[in-house]
Amino acid sequence: MKGSTFFKTASLLSPLLFSSAQAQESFTHAGTGITFLRQQVDESQTTGGYEFGYALPGTPTGSNDEYIGYIRGAVHSGGKGWSGVSHGGGMPNSLLLVAYPNGDSVGTRFVFAGGYVAPNDYTGNATLTQFAHTVTDTYFEVIYRCQWCWIWNQNGATGQQLPTEEVQVIGWAQHMDSPPSAGQSWRLHNNGQSQFGIQPANARKTEYDDWVAKYTNGTTPTPTPSDGPTPTPTPTAPTSCVGTPAPTGSYDYIVVGAGAAGIPVADKLSESGKSVLLIEKGPPSLGRFGGTMKPDWLEGTDLTRFDVPGLCNQIWVDSAGVACSDIDQMAGCVLGGGAAVNAALWWNPTPHDWDYSWPTGWRAADMKAATDRTFKRIPGTQVPSMDGIRYKPEGFNVLATALRADGWKEISPNEVPDQKNRTFADPPYMYENGQRQGPLGSYLVTAMERKNFKLWMNTAVRRIIRDGGKATGVELDGGDGGYCGTADLNPGGRVIVSAGVFGSTKLLFRSGIGPKDQLQTVQNSVQDGPSFINETEWIDLPVGKNLNDHVNTDLVIKHPNVSFYDFYEAWSDPIPNDREMYLEKRSGILAQSAPNIGPMFWEYIPGADGIQRAIQYQSRVEPSPPATDNTSMTISQYLGTGTVSRGALSINGALNMFVSTPPYLQDKEDLAAVITSIKHLQQVISKVPGIVWEVPAANVTVEDFVNSIPKTPARRRSNHWIGSSKIGTDSGLNGGTSVVDLNTQVYGTENIHVVDASLFPGHIVTNPTSYIVVVAEHSAAKILALGSGSQAPGKQAGAVRL
Ligand SMILES: Cc1cc2nc3c(=O)[nH]c(=O)nc-3n(C[C@H](O)[C@H](O)[C@H](O)COP(=O)(O)OP(=O)(O)OC[C@H]3O[C@@H](n4cnc5c(N)ncnc54)[C@H](O)[C@@H]3O)c2cc1C
Ligand code: HEM
Repeated sequence: MKGSTFFKTASLLSPLLFSSAQAQESFTHAGTGITFLRQQVDESQTTGGYEFGYALPGTPTGSNDEYIGYIRGAVHSGGKGWSGVSHGGGMPNSLLLVAYPNGDSVGTRFVFAGGYVAPNDYTGNATLTQFAHTVTDTYFEVIYRCQWCWIWNQNGATGQQLPTEEVQVIGWAQHMDSPPSAGQSWRLHNNGQSQFGIQPANARKTEYDDWVAKYTNGTTPTPTPSDGPTPTPTPTAPTSCVGTPAPTGSYDYIVVGAGAAGIPVADKLSESGKSVLLIEKGPPSLGRFGGTMKPDWLEGTDLTRFDVPGLCNQIWVDSAGVACSDIDQMAGCVLGGGAAVNAALWWNPTPHDWDYSWPTGWRAADMKAATDRTFKRIPGTQVPSMDGIRYKPEGFNVLATALRADGWKEISPNEVPDQKNRTFADPPYMYENGQRQGPLGSYLVTAMERKNFKLWMNTAVRRIIRDGGKATGVELDGGDGGYCGTADLNPGGRVIVSAGVFGSTKLLFRSGIGPKDQLQTVQNSVQDGPSFINETEWIDLPVGKNLNDHVNTDLVIKHPNVSFYDFYEAWSDPIPNDREMYLEKRSGILAQSAPNIGPMFWEYIPGADGIQRAIQYQSRVEPSPPATDNTSMTISQYLGTGTVSRGALSINGALNMFVSTPPYLQDKEDLAAVITSIKHLQQVISKVPGIVWEVPAANVTVEDFVNSIPKTPARRRSNHWIGSSKIGTDSGLNGGTSVVDLNTQVYGTENIHVVDASLFPGHIVTNPTSYIVVVAEHSAAKILALGSGSQAPGKQAGAVRL
């Protein structure tokens, strides 16, 4: 169903987006006489510059699904380069058009990606007719008519962004090399990417039909027909599982997803002596578990890219085989999930966070024992290098000087977790011995030693097999060398869904648990429709709602003392001394997270609505657009605890997950907190005269700056997704907001649990991994205390309990 994925762009952008810095202009192309509404992206964001413009029919006709486009892209040495446009704004789940110089002509390709992975050719009926092109040594331009381009359908992955709202969000990306030849894979753009908002009303042109007629040899233009702008995909039968038959056997607990939560919960359950099967869809990550992905300089060692702290940012450069391909956000689909690919920031939870939004039994006092257990196993360190030296601390020192001068206090954050107001610190990480550890290096190690514990990798779980509210096992979906068939529960056994916010939501939807419209999408899908659980067995719960993420606002400053360390270059060509220090002593800058993080600092902002909102600032030595200086620092402002805004997740017909409602700044006090805190930071920064603000620029007000950033995941995300299967007593079965009860058991079921970031009722101050592990510890105790799942109706979550 096309309409199900409509992206409400107008609500994502404020009119202030069109402040002088970002406004589009009317531009008449000299060669064709066509007038476009044009956005220019300057050299500071992409070498050689980029331009996109469009003209729309004077009045919407037919499916309102076409435009005349203008792309001007950079040509690099050898006549190479490509320039892309996203018709939905984001890269995943959107029709992407790539244009490129090809000798004297300009080539174009439509492509499509389900996640932040290499796209495939688009198979829908978007149609491009070239009107004109130019290729020079430094730029190319192409003018084209694009039909069936605002609505797309890639084998059931439907979406649209019709020019009917006040604002459309357009994405762009550029590469300095040519597109891949046939059969080769696309490579990540290396010349910038971002988004801008554009107002379609200003692009409507009464001359549109004349231009079309002129450039299609006098043909009278026919508007794109309204009765089928994109064909439904050729109906195909469901694909069968690829893999080997699963070993026979049954288990007391089946945990789906070996991420930050799945690993500890599986370990703790197996401690009881019960049999536990942990199923992970991705391949091994750390070397100790059989991981193999590594740069040349790690060949011959037992280390992989995941072990080495300084390589953690590689996921943004080369995500092939690591990032999930079925969700529209960045996430690790490998053993360890996010805990294998993240920057390893590791915080003793702020007690107020539990007390503020968690229910009875999950408040700070209740979580203390689980917190102590977690930190005993993963203490964290503020100095990851084994020689005890903090390398390249200039960025920290510059900002710390300003913070101290303004009266902020330096703390050891894991010793005083409650001190998050006007405090700062060099952050702690879940590294040990100069390598990534966290849940992988602790809980998984002890679990693997137990005979009653089994781990299957490269095996996705398709759905939970259930009879009413009682799960009997899971159906497997294979993978690279993984298993097909089923894994069964022992009588009284339980399934624990720990597949992350996106993965758990998807798995519940495919198991017939979630809002009716989402289950209908699964029911209508080619892959799952024919075998989907009967509608009479659906469990209607608000799965996917209550979605939240830290609201990110990137600020940039520079100071002459600061200097950038090229962690990206360290992938292929590390500085020899740094490489040797790491390999021989697990010391040096490569034992620290890329790209040189710190300081982190915090404050609470009281809102006019009586809510205290928490702000965390996470600094790193790296410029962000439009700044390019090697002396720049990006300071990411995260708005967390207290946010009122919420979003939602949806599934499309190709069974890909996407953020259908972004959770950013819908509430005016959320917005006010962001603005007020940036003003405080300006005051802090003014204490050190040598610091220059780059973003926002001196002539832009904080209000205009904050309002100018689209409220889309691509521009606002922090990758700290939470909340899609909220824990609480107000059962969603009765119109409440909660998906699981206080024992993490899904309402309306007897033995299905969710244990991961999905449970969080509201956001927190810091990065979430440590909280998620603590939640897993606590959940395991609750689940064990429940004993066997029972058929007795009285044991169903949501049923009356006396
Ligand atoms: C790039 C990046 C950097 C980050 N940096 C930090 C940081 O420094 N500190 C911090 O605290 N947080 C950080 N985070 C966030 C943190 O990593 C996540 O919040 C956390 O990992 C979520 O834990 P989880 O258990 O809910 O899910 P995940 O850790 O995502 O685990 C889910 C697992 O389930 C598997 N899975 C999914 N579907 C299926 C299926 N159907 N069958 C079988 N397996 C399945 C996935 O492959 C994955 O391994 C970062 C996140 C990203 C993406
Ligand atoms: C192997 C190929 C590719 C990979 C791995 C990849 C990966 C990524 C990643 C990780 C981002 C987010 C960057 C960030 O937030 O810092 C991104 C953004 C983007 N990409 Fe790609 N990309 C690829 C190819 C393409 C192609 C061919 C296009 C064609 C138009 C494209 C268009 C975009 C756009 C418009 C954005 C900005 C919007 C957004 O973040 O969603 N990408 N890409």
